[in-house]
Amino acid sequence: MGNFEGKVALITGAGHGIGKGIARQFAEAGANTVIVDYNAETGEETAKEITNEFVKSIFVQADVSDPEAFVRVRDKVFEEFGRIDILVLNAGVAFANKVNDISFEEWSKTISINLTGLFNTVKAFYNDFLMNKGSIVYISSGSALSGTGGGVSYPASKAGGEGLIRGLAKELGPKGVNVNAIAPRLIDSGKMMRVNYPTEESLNAVLEKIPVRRFGTIEDVANLTLFLADKANSYIQGQTILLDGGRTIA
Ligand SMILES: NC(=O)c1ccc[n+]([C@@H]2O[C@H](COP(=O)([O-])OP(=O)(O)OC[C@H]3O[C@@H](n4cnc5c(N)ncnc54)[C@H](O)[C@@H]3O)[C@@H](O)[C@H]2O)c1
Repeated sequence: MGNFEGKVALITGAGHGIGKGIARQFAEAGANTVIVDYNAETGEETAKEITNEFVKSIFVQADVSDPEAFVRVRDKVFEEFGRIDILVLNAGVAFANKVNDISFEEWSKTISINLTGLFNTVKAFYNDFLMNKGSIVYISSGSALSGTGGGVSYPASKAGGEGLIRGLAKELGPKGVNVNAIAPRLIDSGKMMRVNYPTEESLNAVLEKIPVRRFGTIEDVANLTLFLADKANSYIQGQTILLDGGRTIA
């Protein structure tokens, strides 16, 4: 784990699951954290918990699909901490429906949160990043490559996000900003994995496909996020790293 003292890391969707775990690790490594979530209860709780255990963390309620909310988030971050160094684009939703069962609303919601949400977050902090030569880490999904993990709207949104990240890496690399993605598969975050594998039987069957014979943990994703955000590793640029226990496509 690198040293992030004096840095400010903003994590979207950090009230629960993977985002929360990432925020906790950044705080443990000395960074001030900004918890963004549309769920006020879990978001507040996470910021309080982190402040008590590590260093100051603030919660700002916002929906990543709302560009205006992010202007507010940016103002609040600068009011509290006066800088931004790391953006973790983690907030996401998953629906497991097949084409005939996907309503336009569901399609549109998935794209607005999982894809447009990335653009809104980056745009609000774009000029600040140029100043601090920061790092951006996007939590994608192995389903962008495999097509598994929930009907078509989810993989479509995640593959779109990876395109955005590759474009951003080209645009921001010359300015000293690192941009990379992590594509996890089957991380036991307590919620999202159950969308596709609701029974013990289905979980056991998919476990057989993972060579390391375990599901990923929140810590696995957090460890890699801190690694990619660390300027000691800044020659890694525009990459998507599969975090899947060796399963890859199956
Ligand atoms: N769990 C897995 O197996 C897995 C695998 C691959 C990728 N991922 C990705 O990791 C990320 C986190 O997943 P998780 O398992 O922790 O999910 P989760 O459902 O446990 O947590 C997601 C968090 O994001 C917040 N959120 C959702 N929509 C939001 C919005 N519009 N604005 C602000 N906050 C919002 C939720 O309130 C929640 O706190 C997601 O992008 C997901 O696609 C998860």
